[in-house]
Amino acid sequence: MQPFIDKSEIKNVLNCLQTGWLSSKGVYVKKFEQKFTNFIGGGYGVAVTNGTAALELALTSLGIGKGDEVIVPNFTFGASINAVINIGAKPVVADIDEKTWTISIKEINSKMSRKTKAILAVHIYGLVCDLKNISKIAKKNKIFLVEDCAEALGSKFNKKYIGNYGDCSTFSFYPNKTITTGEGGMIVFKKKNVYEKSLILRNQGREINDTFFIHKYRGFNFRMSNIQAAIGYAQMFKIKKFLNLRKKIFKFYNKVFKKYNFIGLMPDKKNTQNSGWLYTIKIKNINHNKRNQLIQKLKDKGIEARPAFYPLNKMKPFKKYCKGEYEASENVSLKSISLPSSPFLLKKELNYITKTFLEEINKIN
Ligand SMILES: Cc1ncc(COP(=O)(O)O)c(C=O)c1O
Repeated sequence: MQPFIDKSEIKNVLNCLQTGWLSSKGVYVKKFEQKFTNFIGGGYGVAVTNGTAALELALTSLGIGKGDEVIVPNFTFGASINAVINIGAKPVVADIDEKTWTISIKEINSKMSRKTKAILAVHIYGLVCDLKNISKIAKKNKIFLVEDCAEALGSKFNKKYIGNYGDCSTFSFYPNKTITTGEGGMIVFKKKNVYEKSLILRNQGREINDTFFIHKYRGFNFRMSNIQAAIGYAQMFKIKKFLNLRKKIFKFYNKVFKKYNFIGLMPDKKNTQNSGWLYTIKIKNINHNKRNQLIQKLKDKGIEARPAFYPLNKMKPFKKYCKGEYEASENVSLKSISLPSSPFLLKKELNYITKTFLEEINKIN
């Protein structure tokens, strides 16, 4: 991955530095929030310090906390579950559907309890969850649907960008994401009253425009700086270009790898479009150790590959939130590998990656 920064980000940042407007009070924060929600097609945007803070603030603004349960998938980056634990709620870990790599509907149903307050639908690797059925469950049980879109800015569901389907959605702008602000995040809320509460909670629980240090709630400092927002605002003018380039990288890899039976391509569900965040494939007949050896071999040849996210149920801090079997997530996680996915990879680099990958896997298996 590599960020793309040109003179527009530099010009905006210079403007912050030259005017002295560095903090969240500067003009770029609102501009970025508005441009972002215009892009995804609606909602109320709240820019924050990172994607984990976005999850914590989103859940807290919805009134979720101590004594509440939130269903999270076993196959995700640790930030999703950390956020739930950090706000004092209890995560309940559900397995994924092996066909889609996203949270299983059957598992959600079996892990619901009277304490369940939300389902955290993580669109892992840009793969869109089964939003239709998850939202049916959420509506029927009068609980919230929170979408973790950290890896999926630009993914589509029914031809629309995701981020407006659930009660709220969260995004990350870490430099490997679709757009970056260095570190940063965004929440998009559906309801105005929850959005307004989040603005107060983002700023230490102080009323908007408070100058008398009156705190309405116990809050956070999750404010995004004007400098970060200045970068994000410039990035939003280029997002379509980034997404098109990412699509091309995915297309190239798929064209090469689809000829090989031992490679399981990323799921490609009807009515969805992947943002092309991180190209990940499952090697059907490999075990965990050999997959890790393959990553090392690629590294020796100058190719940075990554294992898929490690299943939560196998990690000490999260084990206590897991019950039963997690066969599907273990199978996908331990056999899968992510390949270089920078939108700026050159054809000759892509050829080298695919050729070396196929050579090395033949040697290992
Ligand atoms: C699925 C998922 N959720 C949340 C986050 C947290 O975002 P951040 O790193 O900006 O805190 C990430 C970050 O990579 C992620 O992949």
